[in-house]
Amino acid sequence: LPYFFAALAFGYLLGSTPFGLILTKLGGLGDVRSIGSGNIGATNVLRTGNKKLAALTLLGDMLKGTFAVLIAAEWGNETANLAGVGAFLGHLFPFWLKFKGGKGVATYIGVLAGLFWPAALLFGFIWLAAAYITRYSSLSALIASALMPFALFGFSEWQLAELFAVLSAILWVKHRANINRLLNGTESRIGGNKKTSE
Ligand code: G3P
Repeated sequence: LPYFFAALAFGYLLGSTPFGLILTKLGGLGDVRSIGSGNIGATNVLRTGNKKLAALTLLGDMLKGTFAVLIAAEWGNETANLAGVGAFLGHLFPFWLKFKGGKGVATYIGVLAGLFWPAALLFGFIWLAAAYITRYSSLSALIASALMPFALFGFSEWQLAELFAVLSAILWVKHRANINRLLNGTESRIGGNKKTSE
């Protein structure tokens, strides 16, 4: 039991590192929380216009999840799963930021990469295809995360499918403002061009 708690705490600590916030501050772009959606994730960092920092944010937020899983895997599968959950929750609810963190897409992918990498590739493929068609980052993540538990059920273990069904549900709840904007047509598209609706 102490191992399980340690894995969860270790993952949480790694996951709570807000790469988007740190990188934009270091890059002299100010506080990313005061622009666009106010989120600390790569999508919102991209709204500063700095593609390099957005890519680095994506990478950092992914890799913290992957590392948490791979390091904890030394102590077994359960510990790896718990560290992954910890990292995801750490990104969403970092104590550094008074528990107001990101929306979890990058860290979800990173944790998935550590636990069952083919599913992370599939997530990336679905996300890219959906983003290519719709130009919505949020919608693409909502679609990919909704499909992931089924993909895991088909190609991996029941336990992993169950775990990611829970993470996907949390990710959807964190996207409720995006879902509202998607429904009323005010969500911003990748590339910045607002929907030209009259
Ligand atoms: O990864 C978060 C993305 O799905 C939405 O980000 O900034 O548009 O709320 P944002």
